[in-house]
Amino acid sequence: MGLKERCPIIEFKDLGDERGKLVVVEGGQSIPFDIKRVFYIYGSDSTVIRGQHANKESEFILINVAGQSKVRITDSHEEFVVNLDRPMIGVYIPKMVWKDMYDFSEDSVLLVLASTHYDGAEYIRSYDDYQEMMK
Ligand code: TYD
Repeated sequence: MGLKERCPIIEFKDLGDERGKLVVVEGGQSIPFDIKRVFYIYGSDSTVIRGQHANKESEFILINVAGQSKVRITDSHEEFVVNLDRPMIGVYIPKMVWKDMYDFSEDSVLLVLASTHYDGAEYIRSYDDYQEMMK
């Protein structure tokens, strides 16, 4: 399976009505894992690159609930960029896939749903090491 197929963009249910928008993400249903952790990144801008890691154990969903950012996704063989520019779309990032988040708008709030509790030891933060592991 190609990298894009392994990292699908998921469109979440928008239950908006005349009162406003409501987007639902259900663990194990609209996304392929149960959610153990939620974090969000804001206050970044167009000068920074975040992420720059792959994870041995964690799966993620990235959603820009406000503003916009981009995520560059690679398995060291293929690469593609997702524009996270709407609050009802997310991208699934499986284990052992490298991601860089960048081009944050000033109002960007990037919500991340994770399949694991935090464990710094499962992060691969050297791209050289990652490339070696993916050979
Ligand atoms: P970092 O992984 O560098 O963030 P990004 O995904 O944007 O690259 O995390 C920044 C700091 O926060 C780092 O010291 C680890 C810590 N951290 C936690 O303690 N728990 C978490 O769930 C996350 C994502 C990070």
